[in-house]
Amino acid sequence: MIKFLDLKKVNQPYEQAFQDKMKTVMDKGWYILGDEIKAFETNFAHYCGTKYCIGVGNGLDALVLILKAYIQLGKLQKGDEVIIPANTYIASILAVLQADLIPVLVEPDLETYNLDPNTVEKAITSKTKAILPVHLYGQLAPMKEINTLAKKNNLLVIEDAAQSHGAVLYSQKSGNWSNAAAFSFYPGKKPRGFR
Ligand SMILES: Cc1ncc(COP(=O)(O)O)c(C=O)c1O
Repeated sequence: MIKFLDLKKVNQPYEQAFQDKMKTVMDKGWYILGDEIKAFETNFAHYCGTKYCIGVGNGLDALVLILKAYIQLGKLQKGDEVIIPANTYIASILAVLQADLIPVLVEPDLETYNLDPNTVEKAITSKTKAILPVHLYGQLAPMKEINTLAKKNNLLVIEDAAQSHGAVLYSQKSGNWSNAAAFSFYPGKKPRGFR
């Protein structure tokens, strides 16, 4: 039998490092925040080329917290429309719904399976307040075009970077192209070159 995703095999090269880190945390007995999270946040921000990184429970939480933060800041309001690719993983859509926003699903570019700026432009209404590009399968969405559209229409851009750790477009890393970005560290997601 060939497993669809063999997480044991994927993680085998890191097994000792994981066990050592787990032992450090367990010996300290400090499970929430603490030095390890701080080190992760600093290192991952540096890896992405961003100023800040905040560690949370998972990729879905990261997306929800970003959207709710913009609601708190008054930059989004309940019922605002967020443009999102129709072929994304369900968590991107759930995050928009959990923040009481309206997901507007648009069809992808058939060459890249990422957002098509022309389709996005047609979906913009007076209720649209954000675009949520998803960098699917390790390939960045056309961020220059999306950011141009966002600037023209005064929209936030929030990257769902759950599948694109370390991916680069015009020398600029995923997670560094928008107002805020969310990553997932589910064990099947393997950041390229991140230690
Ligand atoms: C595109 C995309 N967004 C969000 C998520 C959610 O991440 P998590 O499973 O860490 O909640 C995933 C997870 O597979 C994903 O592929």
